[in-house]
Amino acid sequence: MSVLIKGGRVITAADDYVGDVYVEGERVSLIGESLDVEADKVIDASGKYVLPGCVDPHTHLDMPFGGTTTIDDVESGQTAAAFGGTTCHVDFIIQPQGSSFADAFDDWRSKANGKQVIDMGYHMAVTDLREGGSLEELASLPDQGITSYKLFMAYKGALMVDDETLFKTMEVAAETGALVMVHAENGDAIDVLVRKALAEGKTEPKYHALTRPPETEGEATNRAIQLARVAGCALYVVHVSCQESVEPIALAREKGWNVFGETCTQYFFVDYTFLEKPNFEGAKYVYTPPPRDKANQEILWAAVRNDVLSAISTDHCAFLWDGQKSLGKDDFSKIPNGGPGLENRLHMIHEFGVRQSRIGLNRMVELLATNPAKLFGLYPRKGTIAVGSDADIVVFDPTRKHTITAASQHSKTDYNLYEGTEVTGTPESVLLRGNVLVEGGELVAEPGIGQFVKRARFGEQLTAVETAA
Ligand code: URP
Ligand code: ZN
Ligand code: ZN
Repeated sequence: MSVLIKGGRVITAADDYVGDVYVEGERVSLIGESLDVEADKVIDASGKYVLPGCVDPHTHLDMPFGGTTTIDDVESGQTAAAFGGTTCHVDFIIQPQGSSFADAFDDWRSKANGKQVIDMGYHMAVTDLREGGSLEELASLPDQGITSYKLFMAYKGALMVDDETLFKTMEVAAETGALVMVHAENGDAIDVLVRKALAEGKTEPKYHALTRPPETEGEATNRAIQLARVAGCALYVVHVSCQESVEPIALAREKGWNVFGETCTQYFFVDYTFLEKPNFEGAKYVYTPPPRDKANQEILWAAVRNDVLSAISTDHCAFLWDGQKSLGKDDFSKIPNGGPGLENRLHMIHEFGVRQSRIGLNRMVELLATNPAKLFGLYPRKGTIAVGSDADIVVFDPTRKHTITAASQHSKTDYNLYEGTEVTGTPESVLLRGNVLVEGGELVAEPGIGQFVKRARFGEQLTAVETAA
C-alpha cells in the first residue's frame, strides 16, 4: 500500500514547508516538491497542516485505581487518542504489591490483546521491591523495551514508595540507562492534612486541593532532583502543576543536570475554582496534583515556551462522574483521582497555545510529539516526519471549527474537562504506519492494528524495527 499526501504544509519540530509526503508500506519513503509518483491512495492536503502523529507519554488505560478501574480500556482510550491526532502513547504498568514485574507486564499486555488502535509502549511503575520484583528483575526491563521506571511519591497506603525504594530504583536506572519518572508530592504530609480535614468534617471535592498545597509538590520535586543527582540517573517529573515545582526544575536545567519535566493540558485551563462547583460537579476535576490557582497557568505557558518543561501529556485517567467519582460523595479522599483528555490535547494546545500566540507551530509539535518521542526512546521512528520514520501522520485542518463535548467524544467517560469549548483546527485524517486510521470523521481501521513498541534507552535512538502485535 502506498499513500501520497499532496501539497500540505509539513510541520515538524524544525521544519515548515509546503510539500508532498510519499509513504510506502509503513514508512515515509520520499519527501519533495510536486512528487511525480503513483500511489494507491492520494490525500489532498492543500491548505492543511501535515503533522507527525502526536505521542502521549502519560496515560492510564484499564488501570485499577482508587477502588475502581479507569473507564477507558485500551480500545476506547486509543480510539479517543486517534481522533485527537495521537498515534502512539506510553501507558503505565502498575506493579501490584507482591507481584513480579514479569507478571505485571504479562497482565498489561493481555489487556491490550486485539484491542490496539494505535502503537504503545509501557513505563513500569515500581511499588514494591521487598516482596515483589527484585532489583535484578528491574534491571532486565530495558532489554524488553521498558526503558522508564515510575515512582509515586504520594498516594500513601496505595502506590506510594518510600525514599529507599525511590533511591534504589534510581541507582538501577543509573546502571541500565532507564529514565526515572516521579509523581512528585510529599505523600506523608498530604496524608496528615487529609486526615485532619476529614476529622474536621471537611468532605467536599475542594478539600482535595486544599490538602495538597503546592509546597508539597515543590518539596518532592526538589527531593527527587537531588536524589537523582546522587544516584546519577536522568529524571523526568510528571504532571508539573505549579510554580513551586517549575522552579527547582528550571534551576536543575540551568545547571545542566539531566532533569526534565512535563505538564498536562488540563493545568493550563482548569483552576482551583472548578473544584468549588456545586452539586458534586467539582469531583470531575479531582485529579492529582490538583487544579491550582489561576496564576500558575501563565507560569506553565512560560515554562513550556522556555524549555523549562519539555513535554505536554494528558495524564488521561478517566472515570465516570456518575458511578465512579461518586464513590467519594461524602468523602473527597475516596473520589478516584484522574481526568480524561486523550482526545483533546492537540485541539486545546493548537487553539490556546498557537492561535493565541503563546507558542509557535514548531514548538507545539516538539511538545506534543518530538520531545516525548526523544525522551522515551521512540525517536526517530516516532515524533517526526522524515524519510525512514514511521508514517504516523496527522492531516490537520487549521480552519475547521470543532466544539468539544462529552456527547461527541470517543472516551467512555460521561464528561469532558473542556465541555463546550470551541476550537478552530482539528485532525482530518490520521495515519498509523501508513494505514489510514481516521478519515471522514470515522475510525476506518480495525482494532488490533496497533502494536507494542519496544523503546530504546534514554538518550539512544530507536532505529531497529521491533514491534509485536
Ligand atoms: O489524578 C491522577 N493524576 N491520576 C492518575 C495517577 C497519577 O497520579 O498520575
Ligand atoms: Zn501522578
Ligand atoms: Zn498519571
